[in-house]
Amino acid sequence: MTRNCIQFRSKGRTIRLDRFVPQATVLDWLRLDERATGTKEGCAEGDCGACTVVIAREHDGRLVYEPVNACIATLGQLDGGELITVEDLAQEGNLHPVQTAMAAGHGSQCGFCTPGIVMSLFAHFHGDGERTDRAGINDCLAGNLCRCTGYRSIVDAAREACAGPVADSFVANEPGTIAALRQLDDHADVFVGNEASFFAAPASEAALASLYQRHPDARIIGGATDVGLWITKKLAVLDKIIHLGRAGLDAIEQTADAWHIGASVTLARATPPLASIDPDIAEILRRFGSVQVRAAGTVGGSIANASPIGDLAPLLIALGGHIELRKGDAVRALPLEQFFIGYGKQDREPGEFIRRLIVPKLSAGTLFRAFKVSKRFDEDITTVLGAFRIGVDGGRIASARIAFGGMAATPKRATAVENQLVGAALHDAGTWRLAAERISDDFTPLTDMRASAEYRLNVARNIVIKALAEIAGVSSPVTRILDSREAVDVAD
Ligand SMILES: Cc1cc2nc3c(=O)[nH]c(=O)nc-3n(C[C@H](O)[C@H](O)[C@H](O)COP(=O)(O)OP(=O)(O)OC[C@H]3O[C@@H](n4cnc5c(N)ncnc54)[C@H](O)[C@@H]3O)c2cc1C
Ligand code: FES
Ligand code: FES
Repeated sequence: MTRNCIQFRSKGRTIRLDRFVPQATVLDWLRLDERATGTKEGCAEGDCGACTVVIAREHDGRLVYEPVNACIATLGQLDGGELITVEDLAQEGNLHPVQTAMAAGHGSQCGFCTPGIVMSLFAHFHGDGERTDRAGINDCLAGNLCRCTGYRSIVDAAREACAGPVADSFVANEPGTIAALRQLDDHADVFVGNEASFFAAPASEAALASLYQRHPDARIIGGATDVGLWITKKLAVLDKIIHLGRAGLDAIEQTADAWHIGASVTLARATPPLASIDPDIAEILRRFGSVQVRAAGTVGGSIANASPIGDLAPLLIALGGHIELRKGDAVRALPLEQFFIGYGKQDREPGEFIRRLIVPKLSAGTLFRAFKVSKRFDEDITTVLGAFRIGVDGGRIASARIAFGGMAATPKRATAVENQLVGAALHDAGTWRLAAERISDDFTPLTDMRASAEYRLNVARNIVIKALAEIAGVSSPVTRILDSREAVDVAD
């Protein structure tokens, strides 16, 4: 069954749209078509959060409220969800508790950022036991910039609002909203447009495979947190868009030794399984973009964008991850490191898509470390990221898988460093330094606006030493300013 419109809920109505430009964004629809100008446009690239809206969907019988950057979300991605904007919060003249706290706490001056901040806090308010301490609120607002109020009053207001009971009209109306959303869930393939220009959201993997084979020139989108910027910044014209959100690539499964994560699983949903492998992965995912970026961005998009500075790829390469690709009915798997051929080039044929990632857990005697170095702590693209999986046996390094991002045209293993380490004594600091020196055999990094080649080489060398010092248990208390590792797992 094919449906030739998208359908979603907004302001208590079901909206059906059967004619729109495939690359139309949620923000343009709100501001230009609906004249709902409460939602602001600041950066138009997912950084400032002024455009934050919330999309509510049913998961396991309850509504999950996720904040999304409307500027880089395509309109079609709303299909099946409930769109909530800042205009919707006050009911019958009464402000929402988040708005009341912001007003009473003087959390707004010029007010430009305020709608976005209120929507991020609204999602946090409805979160699943979200943290309301200062650090928890700071994480929640990492994707919202305010240039004039200053964050103290905003964070104080947020803490007050989010610490109270989760009671508002949205909770009261939840059964009705869920029932209305269920009516939209028709399992139909969405196809809006014609063969030359369309927005499509196939409702099964087989339908996706067949559509993409017919239109290998179409642009696949997961969360559009990369592709959205091509639309707003490069002014690219994307005639054919295929959204993966309905195609059933969203399963998370585990075996005794690995996690299997569907390509369209968002970074937010992928965090618990990946974080369970090692706390350093949790910390890097906490700093991956913002809550808004992680709510939309997918693991498949993070790998398929082939970015040399993407955070997920080096982590998964060090862990020994694989990806599964599908074209038509043919499925193939390959080690992730073989997927990246050159700058912006991947081992992916026209019409082929990533269907899932296979991420090994750590085996006994194997330790992991990963460090992201960026100019800014929150919501910043990586300068250098190093990830290490080190097997230790009888005080010697039995195996080493080390991968770096930001050091070459692709995420890449540091094989010279690995070879230097295997067989060496773990506790010998001289070994660490010798290995660190091999970084320049593995990489000839570029100088760009983020860092010089020399800086990158030095940081990478230092990260090698830091990882080994921590794993050897020599200096774990002093290698970190903030120790995010609850258990200090070091080799005996
Ligand atoms: C403000 C901001 C902050 C960011 N911060 C970070 C960060 O800290 N670390 C980081 O690594 N990245 C960051 N990013 C980049 C981006 O969010 C991630 O790379 C994200 O994982 C992309 O996923 P997506 O689903 O949104 O990709 P999309 O934009 O939907 O797609 C990206 C590319 O992958 C292709 N694609 C998507 N899914 C598939 C599939 N299953 N099979 C084949 N091709 C596919 C698309 O065609 C496109 O070429 C940031 C982006 C923004 C806007
Ligand atoms: S306008 Fe800045 S994040 Fe959307
Ligand atoms: S109140 Fe002016 S930018 Fe935040």
